[in-house]
Amino acid sequence: MGARLSEIARGVTPSATLSLKTEIARVEKAYGVSIIDLTAGQPDVGPTDDVLAALSEGGRLHKYGPIPGEPGLRSLLAEVTNHETGSKFSADQIVVTVGAKSAIDVVMRAILDPGDAVVILAPYWVTYPEVVAIAGGSPVCVASRADLRPDLQKTAEAVSRNRARALLYSSPSNPTGVVYSREELEGLSRIAREADIWLIADEVYRTFAFDGGTAPSIFSTVCPYENTVLIDGPSKRFGIPGWRLGFIAGPQELTTAVSAILGHTSNPPRPIQHAVEVAYRSEQAREATRTMVRRYQQNRDLFVEGLNGIAGITCPLPEGAFYCFADVSALYGKVYTYDDDRSETVADSTGFRNFLLRKAFVAAVEGGPFGMDTHMRFSLAVSEHDCKAALENIRKAVSELHD
Ligand SMILES: Cc1ncc(COP(=O)(O)O)c(C=O)c1O
Repeated sequence: MGARLSEIARGVTPSATLSLKTEIARVEKAYGVSIIDLTAGQPDVGPTDDVLAALSEGGRLHKYGPIPGEPGLRSLLAEVTNHETGSKFSADQIVVTVGAKSAIDVVMRAILDPGDAVVILAPYWVTYPEVVAIAGGSPVCVASRADLRPDLQKTAEAVSRNRARALLYSSPSNPTGVVYSREELEGLSRIAREADIWLIADEVYRTFAFDGGTAPSIFSTVCPYENTVLIDGPSKRFGIPGWRLGFIAGPQELTTAVSAILGHTSNPPRPIQHAVEVAYRSEQAREATRTMVRRYQQNRDLFVEGLNGIAGITCPLPEGAFYCFADVSALYGKVYTYDDDRSETVADSTGFRNFLLRKAFVAAVEGGPFGMDTHMRFSLAVSEHDCKAALENIRKAVSELHD
């Protein structure tokens, strides 16, 4: 009885990346150093000038707009998505949301009844299990294969054992940078179709594919499954995560239900929608994305090669997104010593994160909250200078670890 928080609210784990920011500030103050920050989940560059100009121009749209989004933007997003993925969406199958994060949230609220299981492919974006639980669902995480690729057999078993309502994954993947192959995507479609469940494909990093390749979309498979829901948005591709715009593309039944929910909650500001429409039409913005992908690929090449040269760290080459996910578990149990002779043992990924912060002055995100405590996630969305400096510091700090 009384004014108390719900069980759901009490069960929410605060975002690991946010608590890390506090820790970074503490270490910077205590040691009088500046930390090289490889935690960023966002590009290190912002929107192009034409897109920025469109934002202030959009200010004239000051009245309430249509709940599912501006008609021009919805048509354009359908057109761009169909062009890039081979899908066949019409404008009324697109709903614009406050970032891709709230797109996933509202989809969960539209499809889950209390206790419904959602199978999530691990390692996963930290938000997935939380957002399922917030909607009253029950997250069921399925481990990847050792090479971080999806384990289709275990996924099929988890879907059937838990009588899942949905299957959720990201490709290119945050945190691994793995890009699912067409065969793997076909496998996921098959599993979802056979179980007759929702397949939720988060493709926010689709434009971040390295080595001149493209990241296959779930809709580029031979026979896309009709109950597939696409989560996408411009945050990463145009460097505008703070503008908070994302979108859903899916079967009309779902987009209608989602719009009904959003009618009572929220939809993105109209000036932002106007500027995002300009961004998707802008050749200048597309060129900026290509330049960014080339830079992050160079960072990947030097950073992953460097990491693999450090005894005790192994890191597969990411094919996309802008992260690398390195196995550091061979260093668990090792000890580091402070100048005043105090020692600490690296016991797990949080311990490794703290070691990197205090001894290498490098911030990276521990793998635990991504569902893989053996690993660390490093963001490549930084300058080449920071990549090189971080690598040097990590190399030196690891060489000083002892038994
Ligand atoms: C896999 C994945 N999906 C969705 C999002 C959310 O993006 P947005 O900024 O559009 O909310 C992120 C952000 O980090 C992400 O990594």
